Parts: sequence; structure tokens; C-alpha cells
Amino acid sequence: MGLETGDDAGVFRINDTTALIQTLDFLTPVTNSPYEFGQVAAANALSDVYAMGGIPLTAMNIVCFPEDELDEMILQETLQGGIDKIEEAGATLVGGHSVNDPEFKYGLSVTGVVHPDRVLTNRGSKTGEVLILTKPVGVGILATAVKGKLASEDHVKNLVKTMTQLNKAACEILLDYPVSACTDVTGFGLAGHLLEMARGSKKTMHLFANKVVAIDGAKEYAMMGLVPGGTFRNRSFCSKNTFLDKGIEPIVQDLIFDPQTSGGLLFSIGKSEAETCVERMNQKGVAAAIVGKVGLDHSCGNLIVS
Ligand code: CO
Ligand code: CO
Ligand code: CO
Repeated sequence: MGLETGDDAGVFRINDTTALIQTLDFLTPVTNSPYEFGQVAAANALSDVYAMGGIPLTAMNIVCFPEDELDEMILQETLQGGIDKIEEAGATLVGGHSVNDPEFKYGLSVTGVVHPDRVLTNRGSKTGEVLILTKPVGVGILATAVKGKLASEDHVKNLVKTMTQLNKAACEILLDYPVSACTDVTGFGLAGHLLEMARGSKKTMHLFANKVVAIDGAKEYAMMGLVPGGTFRNRSFCSKNTFLDKGIEPIVQDLIFDPQTSGGLLFSIGKSEAETCVERMNQKGVAAAIVGKVGLDHSCGNLIVS
């Protein structure tokens, strides 16, 4: 797919009806429960196949584990979390590799398939279309609160629910529509991934600040200053091509630059179909919402937040 605009996975055409999608992602623990961490890491890795409009087929574990420091049960529970998500995705675990390493990391290499003519990329958005995001943002803020032992039990529960949710249902529904561009929101945050889509599509993207949905608790923890370092890096990385209207609350700024783990799909679709698409997703338990629109041509892509 080329490297310029950072698409989610590699695509290899086998014949006229089948192309392979290959992707790899791994993380350091994001929750205190190994089983949940396994689920999050798998949902996160599988997501890049969904972001390209594909169906995951096989997965392989990637493990770095401090054998001398951590109980082997931790690894077993983590892998079980991964297996359960792989099964939910309808894929099969076919192997993996582990090494003894001072820092625990877990993830997956996932292989999927897609019709070569139906590959979704982050570069097809058309002027006048609507932008839809399928999960709330604020994962990084909540994870920072979890690390600081300041997050409430309910907020953690909700965070885990969001991060472990597969983008499968969202992907299956959006494939019923002529979606022009799609990606998933991860480390670069909503603004960063939107800007990639803007660059890839050579458009000006408009993000509506008051439509950005926050995970429960994200706003209050951000208010307490629990903002991860990645937020500031994302903000400075985007600064050249991102224009924030005066009066955008600092909290909203924290949210749009917040790095996500296992974030939602972000896609653009014709205005006439957007409402029904969102409704269908909501009915399936996907927290999809319209968050912006695709504006006029712009040769290097930019983002306006208003
Ligand atoms: Co991705
Ligand atoms: Co990825
Ligand atoms: Co080997």
C-alpha cells in the first residue's frame, strides 16, 4: 500500500479475488489483569485487519517475558485472553515465539484476507462526506489514572470493556456501505490518524470538538492533569497542519491528541448513508458517532478542529 501515509497493514494480492493482509502489533501491559491485557493486545492487533476491510484468518503470538521475575501463570492468563479474542474474531492461533526479556510484552502477528478491489485504505475520502468514529477516546488518560492508582473501579471496568471490544462488528457493518477511507485510531490519537487520512486523501478534514465522545472518567482525570506524555508528542507532531479554533477547551484538546490502545475505526462515508450506518452500529453495541466531515481539496492535507 506504500509507506507515505502509514496504512494499517501490508496487503499482498494473490489472485483476482484474494489478497492477504498482514500486520503485527505488541504492547506492554495496559491493565493489572493479565487476562484482560491479553484480550486488549489481541483486539488491538486484529484491529489493523478490520481497518483494511479484511477478515482475520490466522494469528501468531509474540511474547517477551521476564521468566525469572514473573509467575508463569501471568503468561498463561495473558495468552488465554489472546486466544479468547482470536476465537471471537473467528481466527485461529497457529503458533508464535517467546523470548526471555526484562520487560513483559505481548502481541500478535495477524493474517487476514480481503477482496483486492475492496481494500480499505486511509486515502480515499471525498469532499462532503461524513467522518465516523466507532469508539470513544481517552484511553491514554484513563491508563495514566490506572497507573497512578487514581482510577475508580467503574471507570477501569468501562475502559477495559472499550479496549477489549473487537472492531469486528463495526467492520462488518461498514462493509455494507461504500466507505471511501478507513483506519483505526491508535497511538497517534484521533487528530493524528485523522491527519493521516487528510494527507492520504489530500483533503481538509473538519473535526467537531463537541462531537468527540470521551470514555467515562477521561474528562475528570484530564482535569487532574493525568495526561500521558504521548499526548504532548502527538500534539507537537500534528501542530503544523492542525488548526484549533480559539475557545476549544483544553480538555477536548487532551482528548483529541490522546494516544489510544485498541481504539475504534475511523472512516468516511457519504452523508446520506451515515445516519443509518451509525444506527446499525449502535444497535450492535458499537459506540459509533459522527465526529466531523471531509472538506475541500488540500494538497498536503490538514485538519481543522472547531
Ligand atoms: Co492501525
Ligand atoms: Co498497528
Ligand atoms: Co521458529
